[in-house]
Amino acid sequence: LRALSPDRPLAGRRALVTAGPTHEPIDPVRYIANRSSGTQGYAIAEALAAAGADVTLVSGPTTLPDPAGVHTIRVETARDMLEACRHALPCDIAVCTAAVADWHVAPAAQKIKKTADAPPPALHLVPNPDILAILGRPGPARPGLVIGFAAETEHVLAHATTKRARKGCDWIVANDVSPGTGIMGGAENEVTVIDATGCEHWPRLDKAQVAHRLVARIATFLQTPPN
Ligand code: CTP
Ligand code: CA
Repeated sequence: LRALSPDRPLAGRRALVTAGPTHEPIDPVRYIANRSSGTQGYAIAEALAAAGADVTLVSGPTTLPDPAGVHTIRVETARDMLEACRHALPCDIAVCTAAVADWHVAPAAQKIKKTADAPPPALHLVPNPDILAILGRPGPARPGLVIGFAAETEHVLAHATTKRARKGCDWIVANDVSPGTGIMGGAENEVTVIDATGCEHWPRLDKAQVAHRLVARIATFLQTPPN
C-alpha cells in the first residue's frame, strides 16, 4: 500500500512532462518552431514535484530556469525530445505540453545564401514523430495517465475532443490561444479539461494555479481505484 500524505499525494509516482517549443534547423542559423514560452509546462512539472512525484521535464529551448526539484533535460528537435521521453519511461503520468514542430527539414550544412537572381529556397517538410500519440499507444510501457494539451484558435472544444481520441490520451487540456486572448506568452490560462466523461471548464487563472489544479485532479484520479 502506498503511504498517502495529504501534502505529497504523488509520492512514489514517476512523471514525465514535455514543454517549450522544438527547434528544427534549416541551416546552422535558421530554424522552424512553434510559439511557446514553456511557462505552463514548467509550472506543471514544478507542481508535480511539489506533490511528491519524481519528475523528468523534457524541454525544448526556453529562457526559463530549470524548475526546483525537477530533473530537466534540454533538447532542441522533436526527434531529440522523443528520444529523451523514451529514456524517461516507465512512468505513471505523462503530461505533454510541448509545442512540438510538426515538421522538420534536412538541414543544410552551411548557411543558405540569399541570391538576387535565384528563387527563394523551397523547404521540403518531413513530418515529425507525434510524441503524445506514441506515449498514448496501448502497450506495457504506456503511462497509466496520459495527458495532452490542445492549443486552438477556433472550434476549440471540437478540435480538442477529436485530438484526444486521435492521440489516445486520457485527458486533453484545451485552450483558446487566439491573439486577442493574451494567453500565448501571458501569465494566465483559461482551459477546459476533456476526458472520456465530458468537459470541465476552469476559470481564467494564473498558469501556476492551473498547474496546481491539474495536479490535484491527477492525484484524485490516481487515488480512486478504477471500478
Ligand atoms: N504533440 C506531440 N508531438 C507532436 C505534436 C504534438 O507530442 N509531434 C502533442 C503536444 O505536446 C500536445 C498535443 O500533442 O500535447 C497537441 O498538439 P497540437 O499541435 O495541438 O496537435 P497536432 O496533432 O499537431 O495538430 P495541429 O497542430 O494540426 O492542430
Ligand atoms: Ca501541431
